[in-house]
Amino acid sequence: MGKIVHFGVWIGIAFVVTCVRTMDTAVAESEITIISRAEWGARPPKSRVNMTSPVPYVIIHHSYEPDVCLNRSQCEKFVRGIQNFHMDTRGWDDIGYNFLVGGNGDVFEGRGWDVVGAQAGPDWNSRSIGICFIGNFTDKLPPKEAISAGKALILLGVEKKKVVTNYTLYGHRQVRPTECPGNEFFKLVTQWDHWKPRNYTAE
Ligand SMILES: *[C@@H]1O[C@H](CO)[C@@H](O)[C@H](O)[C@H]1NC(C)=O
Ligand SMILES: *[C@@H]1O[C@H](CO)[C@@H](O)[C@H](O)[C@H]1NC(C)=O
Ligand SMILES: *[C@@H]1O[C@H](CO)[C@@H](O)[C@H](O)[C@H]1NC(C)=O
Ligand SMILES: *[C@@H]1O[C@H](CO)[C@@H](O)[C@H](O)[C@H]1NC(C)=O
Ligand SMILES: *[C@@H]1O[C@H](CO)[C@@H](O)[C@H](O)[C@H]1NC(C)=O
Repeated sequence: MGKIVHFGVWIGIAFVVTCVRTMDTAVAESEITIISRAEWGARPPKSRVNMTSPVPYVIIHHSYEPDVCLNRSQCEKFVRGIQNFHMDTRGWDDIGYNFLVGGNGDVFEGRGWDVVGAQAGPDWNSRSIGICFIGNFTDKLPPKEAISAGKALILLGVEKKKVVTNYTLYGHRQVRPTECPGNEFFKLVTQWDHWKPRNYTAE
């Protein structure tokens, strides 16, 4: 009798765990549309270094310039502009970020999950996924569509085992001397799951 009750409880727990996991994936994948490089018209990278996944850190950026975009065609144009700036002016191999999030909640594949970015400096690039919210969030927050898409993207990274389950979330300013991701947005990021205190110090 006791054994049967125990067995029932274990089945119950297994069922709940399975459902929650399935729901998490479903939520993460259905809440976001990832626009591939081919779809936004990316230039090919000059070279790529493979990421060793899963990574322990997620780093949040804002673009500062350009400011927020609110529809697909405008956001795509901004993403192409950021890639041109990173490749032609900065001299990088590709757009720096792993992903970008538009003000309308569209997520753009930058270097993606599997390629090391140029976003947080040599100590961090190979250990983190860098997500840039397009806009200048010094004095304002990203639109709520962007915030929920960005959070869903992180959840998706954990589900796909590209990001460890106990990852640490930082704002760019915590690892580099920069105001990024903007004062107003940074205050919000400090309230997100997995955020940890850390102050930048010269490394
Ligand atoms: C990097 O990953 C790609 C895609 O999985 C693979 O084809 C390539 O061999 C890898 N390169 C190195 C240097 O491991
Ligand atoms: C997208 O937004 C830009 C800037 O606000 C605007 O000029 C353009 O007409 C919009 N395009 C669409 C398809 O709504
Ligand atoms: C970003 O926003 C701040 C605060 O509104 C403003 O002072 C700054 O000039 C903006 N930067 C750009 C590049 O527009
Ligand atoms: C995350 O979990 C791994 C494996 O259990 C552990 O080694 C690591 O210290 C944990 N990291 C943090 C930041 O808690
Ligand atoms: C970071 O700096 C702030 C302001 O100086 C300070 O209040 C906070 O305790 C520091 N945090 C850490 C983790 O050192």
